[in-house]
Amino acid sequence: MTQTNSSISKRPYGTTASGQAVEEYTLTNANGVEGKIITFGGIITSLRVPDRKGSMADVVLGFTNLTDYETKSPYFGALIGRYGNRIGKASFMLDGAQYTLALNDGPNSLHGGVKGFDKKVWSAKEGKSDTGIALELSYLSPDGEEGYPGNLSVTVTYTLTNDNAIRIDYSATTDKTTVVNLTNHSYFNLAGNGSGTIYDHIVQIYADRYTPVSGTLIPTGELAPVAGTPFDFRSPKVVNGGIRSGHQQMVYGRGYDHNFVLNRKTDNALEIAARVYDPSSGRAVEVWTTEPAIQFYTSNFVDATLVGSSGGIYRQGDAFCLETQHYPDSPNQPAFPTTTLKPGDTYNTTTVYKFSAD
Ligand code: GLA
Repeated sequence: MTQTNSSISKRPYGTTASGQAVEEYTLTNANGVEGKIITFGGIITSLRVPDRKGSMADVVLGFTNLTDYETKSPYFGALIGRYGNRIGKASFMLDGAQYTLALNDGPNSLHGGVKGFDKKVWSAKEGKSDTGIALELSYLSPDGEEGYPGNLSVTVTYTLTNDNAIRIDYSATTDKTTVVNLTNHSYFNLAGNGSGTIYDHIVQIYADRYTPVSGTLIPTGELAPVAGTPFDFRSPKVVNGGIRSGHQQMVYGRGYDHNFVLNRKTDNALEIAARVYDPSSGRAVEVWTTEPAIQFYTSNFVDATLVGSSGGIYRQGDAFCLETQHYPDSPNQPAFPTTTLKPGDTYNTTTVYKFSAD
């Protein structure tokens, strides 16, 4: 592979419906791996990584223009907050007060509400370190936004490293007790965006347990063993092996859309959570995180109504998401690891998507 100098550049990407200017940043590392990130939603719109022969392909689903991201995106590549995943009945109690959120997913609230962090314009600052090129995004979410308490000051730093990883460092502080659960919602296809389904990809998830859900995808509270179910990815398994199972959980999710409880050895060091390999291209991605859990989603709700950056339509199963997170509905489930953030404390999590090919 040719060695080049890593670089970062920016260009105008468009203007939101409400008149805010959006920039697109292009980050390139020393191996020519290239990521594009827009300040709208902190969205990774493109990520070009080599296959086993060194050929580059864009491995994330996306659109070609801002309007599509604003009006019809199923969270392609976006930063998700304040609360990634679902909060049951769109409400929770905190310090004796009841908070009501928008219903944007049947009877529940999903991914931070109607206008979550995926639809905000973030402030950007370029950076460079020994390990790679960085883009620091920040956003101040005002007290009461989408129903959540506290002014929440959020910084997310994307670093494209010279070992072909995207590292995402999330931090947040608040002036009132609140709940936070931040993630990134990239839709990956290691054979290349637009190349078909990911059913032949081979998945490993380092989880002995998962959180089964009700029909509206809210955890029942049980931490169920994956052993003997289609959720057993403790050894590498092709997606096709389980996705057509008649297991009740698979019917509820219309495929994989479940939170896996990671087998963590430490409380908050970076540990491996998952690995996905595409035998056709040889591309692999490893996910490392400080988070306790990961949502494995096989783009079940993507229904051929979207024309993407590949030029063609996206259909069910064309991508997988691995959203590192705390468990869904944690604010209503005291037995789950807490998502509460108090004034004076700092929320800090890190997730790394590391690409390779063989
Ligand atoms: C998450 C959810 C899915 C779906 C997608 C976005 O992965 O768990 O059910 O809502 O986001 O469409």
